[in-house]
Amino acid sequence: MHIVTVTSARTILWRPTIRRGDGPIWRAIVASLEADVAGGRLHPGDRLPTQRDLAQALGIGLGTVTRAYREAERQGLATGRVGRGTFVASATATHDVLGLPDERRIEMSVDLPVHAEDPDLGAVLRKIARRPDVQRLLRYQDHVGTARHRQAGAAWLERFDVPTSPDHVVVCAGSQHAICVALLLAAEPGDAVVCDELTYHGLRAVAGQLRLRLHGVRCDEEGMDPDAVAAICRRHRVRALYCVPSAHNPTTARLAPTRGDALVRLAREYDFAIVEDDVHRLTADDPPTPLAVRAPERTVFIASFSKAVSGGVRVAFVSVPPALADAAAEAVWATVWMVSPLTVEVAATWIEDGTADAVVTRKRAEAGRRQARCRALLGAWPYASHTSGYHVWLQLPRPWTSAAFVAEARARGVVLSPSGAFVVGSAEPPPAVRMCLAAPERLADVERGLEVVRDLLERGPGASLSRA
Ligand SMILES: Cc1ncc(COP(=O)(O)O)c(C=O)c1O
Repeated sequence: MHIVTVTSARTILWRPTIRRGDGPIWRAIVASLEADVAGGRLHPGDRLPTQRDLAQALGIGLGTVTRAYREAERQGLATGRVGRGTFVASATATHDVLGLPDERRIEMSVDLPVHAEDPDLGAVLRKIARRPDVQRLLRYQDHVGTARHRQAGAAWLERFDVPTSPDHVVVCAGSQHAICVALLLAAEPGDAVVCDELTYHGLRAVAGQLRLRLHGVRCDEEGMDPDAVAAICRRHRVRALYCVPSAHNPTTARLAPTRGDALVRLAREYDFAIVEDDVHRLTADDPPTPLAVRAPERTVFIASFSKAVSGGVRVAFVSVPPALADAAAEAVWATVWMVSPLTVEVAATWIEDGTADAVVTRKRAEAGRRQARCRALLGAWPYASHTSGYHVWLQLPRPWTSAAFVAEARARGVVLSPSGAFVVGSAEPPPAVRMCLAAPERLADVERGLEVVRDLLERGPGASLSRA
């Protein structure tokens, strides 16, 4: 049972959930912290109990709690402030970004989709309101979406190079929900799921809630290493593989076609499902042929609406193998009953009337301008990105660690994501950070953020803190 009691605006009495058989207690504390942040029970900035209080409350040694808090900091889940305690970090959640931002802070830790180029919500709502059948949007609909919405979904999936029939489209409430639905179809508690060793942290949140065991495998600029996947398949009963093929989050890697073929062969040999989350396809350079085209019988393909058009319109269109269609309907029913028809109507209208395509073009162009400024300002410092991609993955020179770089950037008003926020398992976070160029409202803020980052790279650790 989770116990989260609010005792003042920012101080909470938090108790982690620790079950028998969860492995070492320090690890269970970290896992519980992560699940409670992902589940919204803890918010960025919340003060965690002192180590002594928590050790006493749980009846465990102080050293165990110290280890757990240290690991939580290493993963970017918590931050310690000398003399003040340990706080939930903001790198893994968006709550403080969605509130009123501090004017001087440049938020580049959340992959926001160039909001300056958002479509006109008022115009589409007026258009929908004039329709004679608008009242129908107040009714319950089919769990997987109305025929019209699934038709629009099939059209959207074509933009992602996945030809499909509307009958195989399931409407989900965003890609995050789609990942949950896909894993509900493919796996049961305790099952093994393979992913990159650095992966989208929303996957970790879902896997934690569904009690799935994530196995992270080596990845490089060509994506996931099939030999490492095969090694895991030989040792565990793998039920699903999760991948982000066109522009990986956070590394921006693109899955090489030969690797994709090898993953499909493994999926057939070991009979596991593929969850293909192609969230950044429309802003990626030269995206690969989707695995859903190569292995349609076992691939759940997720076509996000959030990144290409709008994160607030909580819709993703999912292509599901026919054999899983009934189970998909049940999974949507169990989780949200159906996605709000009004929300899907907004997305469908934008797809039909050309607004969605026009917005994608504008967002790509603005992301391209920001990437060009990044190239100009960072010069030869090594980083990976796509020409019109939303984020960059910056390699840090020695002796920087990811956590130290993020802390010093934050002290200078620039918020970045540490690599530890994306690590699966106990691998050491690499010296790299994710910087979301598409997040700030204005290009001028992106430039200011990049100048701070360049300055930190040039001066090395500690220099900017002693100067401040
Ligand atoms: C790889 C990946 N998948 C899914 C999501 C969540 O997308 P949505 O807003 O559609 O739920 C994100 C968001 O950053 C992401 O990077």
